[in-house]
Amino acid sequence: MKLYANRIKQLRDEINKHNYSYYILDAPKIPDAEYDRLMRELEELEKKYPELIASDSPTQLVGARALGQFEKKKHGLPMLSLENGFSEEDIINFNQRIQDKLETSHDIKFCCEPKLDGLAVNLTYFKGHLELATTRGDGVSGEVITHNIKTIKTVPHHLKKIPGESFPEIIELRGEVFLSKAEFERINQEAKEKGDKIFANPRNAAAGSLRQLDARITANRHLSMYYYGVGEVKDFNLPSSQYSILELLEKWGCPINPEIKIVTGYKACLDYYQKILAKRNNLPYEIDGVVYKVDDIKQQRELGFVSRAPRWAIAHKFPAHEEMTEILAVEFQVGRTGVLTPVARLKPVNVSGAVISNATLHNMDEISRKDIHVGDWVIIRRAGDVIPEIVSVILDKRKNTHKITMPKNCPVCDAPVERIEGQAAYRCTGGITCRAQLEEGIKHFASRRAMDINGLGDKLVEQFVAEGLIKSIADLYDLEISQLINLDRFAEKSAENLIAAIDKSKSTTLGRFLFALGIRDVGETTANLLAKNIADIHKLFDISEEDLQQIPDVGPVVAKHIVEFFSQTKHQKLIERLIKSGIHWPKITKNTHQPLLGKTFVLTGTLEKYSRDEASDLLENLGAKVTNSVSKSTSYVIAGESPGSKIDKAGALGVEVLDEVAFLKLLSKTALHN
Ligand code: IVH
Repeated sequence: MKLYANRIKQLRDEINKHNYSYYILDAPKIPDAEYDRLMRELEELEKKYPELIASDSPTQLVGARALGQFEKKKHGLPMLSLENGFSEEDIINFNQRIQDKLETSHDIKFCCEPKLDGLAVNLTYFKGHLELATTRGDGVSGEVITHNIKTIKTVPHHLKKIPGESFPEIIELRGEVFLSKAEFERINQEAKEKGDKIFANPRNAAAGSLRQLDARITANRHLSMYYYGVGEVKDFNLPSSQYSILELLEKWGCPINPEIKIVTGYKACLDYYQKILAKRNNLPYEIDGVVYKVDDIKQQRELGFVSRAPRWAIAHKFPAHEEMTEILAVEFQVGRTGVLTPVARLKPVNVSGAVISNATLHNMDEISRKDIHVGDWVIIRRAGDVIPEIVSVILDKRKNTHKITMPKNCPVCDAPVERIEGQAAYRCTGGITCRAQLEEGIKHFASRRAMDINGLGDKLVEQFVAEGLIKSIADLYDLEISQLINLDRFAEKSAENLIAAIDKSKSTTLGRFLFALGIRDVGETTANLLAKNIADIHKLFDISEEDLQQIPDVGPVVAKHIVEFFSQTKHQKLIERLIKSGIHWPKITKNTHQPLLGKTFVLTGTLEKYSRDEASDLLENLGAKVTNSVSKSTSYVIAGESPGSKIDKAGALGVEVLDEVAFLKLLSKTALHN
């Protein structure tokens, strides 16, 4: 018993400390998933030993007490929290408890809503006018943030009048204030440029933006809000279900999440969970789960509350985007331009459904900015398809760690490592003699968006380099079937296929070829721009930085890298050798003859031969206009593989649709395409 009492106190103190960091400082020290685990442990212990529940236990309160910068106001009705469910079993139990308490075996009707990852606010409307807005605070009273809430464009200052109906004397409308993913990126990008504080996630950024003393700052952050419920109401009969209340709010002009659905039975809730989970990465805002609410208000009343949460609702949480783990070691990877990138080897941990064991640390400046040591416990985050990254170090847990240092010699070829002037990056000086640089260069050259050599995967490149078959990119085009079939695991057929794919790659575009060369800072877009403006690659051999900067979007840094690359004899020789082995591209000359002038094209689906940009360029060069959406004035829709709804629209408007074959025919008919 003593043991449990100690643990309960320890958990209470720890969670209260985290509540302060989270709610007041907007800077949590541990991931939400870890917080949830601590809270669960405390809840379970308190369930077993109810006599040990203290009045200041975080299970009895919501959030944390306000910081004191803002005026505080009591809510008309307390703002409660939600019970969390993590598994199907948790939801089955939730449903069972409800059916038992209501003494029914009928399926329950639930209102299913996305659980937005922002912060709860309470907006009080007097006779339809927004007069007061507060944060949730500790659930009983919150901070007055009316001036800041009013900067949110979609929040009505006056509710819209419904003809023949009057407004309640007082109504508290509740909802979630949040930042879109795009706004979050923008704010952090700007903060980075100014050297200001970076927010760990959109929720902290939203909280930080809302709790500003200067409303002009809040206005610049472009917050959003969805309404999801009602608190105190005076002199008004609300509709009898959660869903119809939301419909009323919508009529009053309050934004409601469009993903909200009404379903019958818990199984349909689980289907809803899966559907929203599948959509999660494509939604423009962060959600951390879904909420199921018993729809019928009469049933809600019957069910009532337990401590800080209603019995009639549950949050079904998604796998967390953030977790904590330990850095076991840091290794340095050598990229194709020789830059050494520090990579953390992590104790494997499941983050939003995938096991993560590595995370890039970007560069040494990032390491010192985040103060990362080997042996540290860190919060790692993997949102959507984004590469996992280390958000921050959990300093409280630091013990016996050591600093990360850049090696003096390349871990692959042992050549000296030097710092690139004016940059955070360090580079191996081994050049093409460094196996890692050669390998990465070839992998990039062969990749789908570059020369697109089908079947030449990473493993094969490594094998060719290790066997000494390839010492330069150009050696690829001298490979012979007889050399390949001598290699391990290479059958005649696969050798033939690879040689055929290498051969096929010879027919390309200038943009792809320039991109494939792997010039520093020259991505696909810049490569295509260069190709468009410099029809003859030889012109690049002695071009000046000034001339390059005449090209739109080419700045001084990129221009410098391009000149650096093409002025080197070894690169000029490489290009000549590649052209000699048969690499060629259609000549796009700026022509005065524009046979497609006045015609408008729309592209949809994937073409086999050209990327969308390349196809647009070809058409535009012939005088055509390329637009994004089909209208009556569209001349042709060009449809590749898996076209979108544009095809249907074309059909409805009677616009002619060309497949890839017909498109290529049209191009060759102009006789400018060879
Ligand atoms: S209802 C009595 N609905 O989740 C029920 N909450 O963990 C009170 N949240 O404080 C909340 N989306 O900040 C509700 N559709 C939604 C929600 C939602 C996000 C947040 C809200 C609340 C927290 C509870």
